[in-house]
Amino acid sequence: MTSPDSQPQIIFSKIGREIQPPVIVDLMARALANPELLSLAAGFTDNAVLPRELVARFAFELTQEGQPDEPLQYGQNQGRTRLRELSCEVIAGHPGEQASAFDSAKMFMTNGSQQALYLAVQALCDFGDIVLVEEPSYFVCLEMLKGLGIRAIGIPCDDAGAIQPEAMEALLRDLDARGERDRVKALYLVSYFCNPSSRSLESDEKRAVAKVLLDGDWQIPVMEDAAYRELYFDTPHAAPSIISMPEFDAFPKLYLGTYTKPFATGLKVGYGYCTHPQWLVKILCIKGHQDFGSAHFNQAIIERVLEEGLYAGHLASIRQHYAHKANVLEAELIAGGLPELGWRWETPKGGLIIWVRAPLETDLRMASDFCQRCIEQGVLYVPGDLCFSSGKPWHCARLASGALPEDRLREAAQRFVAVAKERN
Ligand SMILES: Cc1ncc(COP(=O)(O)O)c(C=O)c1O
Repeated sequence: MTSPDSQPQIIFSKIGREIQPPVIVDLMARALANPELLSLAAGFTDNAVLPRELVARFAFELTQEGQPDEPLQYGQNQGRTRLRELSCEVIAGHPGEQASAFDSAKMFMTNGSQQALYLAVQALCDFGDIVLVEEPSYFVCLEMLKGLGIRAIGIPCDDAGAIQPEAMEALLRDLDARGERDRVKALYLVSYFCNPSSRSLESDEKRAVAKVLLDGDWQIPVMEDAAYRELYFDTPHAAPSIISMPEFDAFPKLYLGTYTKPFATGLKVGYGYCTHPQWLVKILCIKGHQDFGSAHFNQAIIERVLEEGLYAGHLASIRQHYAHKANVLEAELIAGGLPELGWRWETPKGGLIIWVRAPLETDLRMASDFCQRCIEQGVLYVPGDLCFSSGKPWHCARLASGALPEDRLREAAQRFVAVAKERN
């Protein structure tokens, strides 16, 4: 049998039939293809602060005559032993962490933390299963879940993204009453300078979440995504991770971290730290089938940066830069008069994003007049509905301050504000 374009017809799997192109890939491609289209959407970091010298130095050193050949060979499926140890130290070095809680045998290196998340979810979920997420949540994760046929269900949060424990309890009771208890496979939190809300979860909020789960006897795996934890502006966020919080000891825990955003996205090295031995074994089995180890040379470069004690200095050098970029974007939004038009946001304390909320009746979705007008005017943003499991509300937008150089960032913000004024 042949399909209309005269290619033999393939009978695809359920995933193959239902999979849709990820919005993130489209947004990045548009940003790369047309430099005149200023992207407040793409999650790139700033070329101006890429660690060129560090990468050049260690790439050079690692390939010199007489150096071990192993970084240019395949490595371990779980990742380089020393890098796993050093990555434990990175997490343990954050405020409130219990250094003794970390064990490199529970750490695995991945092709970005995105892969760690994907593997973890694959090990847990079947078609139709449920993952609880914040509202809003990381839209690439929401799309990934959808692509795997998994239902993301939003935990009720307030307008700024704070979890509402009582409403969460009610949601869980409702899921139970509908016979869905066994389908709820995990909770996913983006708890440091969240993409997109830019807020961080306080220790009390995390404790309240743990209590709601425990009280309802929901000992489900908890996945904590800390992709932006190192990218604070002035002070680190004080709350320890779920790994160091005894309130979460009853749960299988996975902490996701990365060296992409804080170091170099192009090296695409991330990691997961999993406290549950069987879950970890399953994750590693899937990883073994998928790629039997992430880019070994890239891991070796990062290992050397950490080993030489140069990571902290690099982070210190980029924090002020990103703080400044966020200020520039926010200042333009204010100077353009967005607050007077009823737009709201919280000033970020870290990360690469400002999460703006227009007056409720404003439609900012991809197909909206607002979004199309922005594209005509040469500016892209991430429509906020993509960050909600139900696709609603429609009046939010994710504006990224990280990638564009300062003058273009100003210009992009001005174009965005001009459309907001026009549509007012
Ligand atoms: C919240 C969050 N988690 C995970 C990732 C994945 O990052 P990477 O795979 O580059 O480590 C991103 C990337 O934008 C992110 O924003």
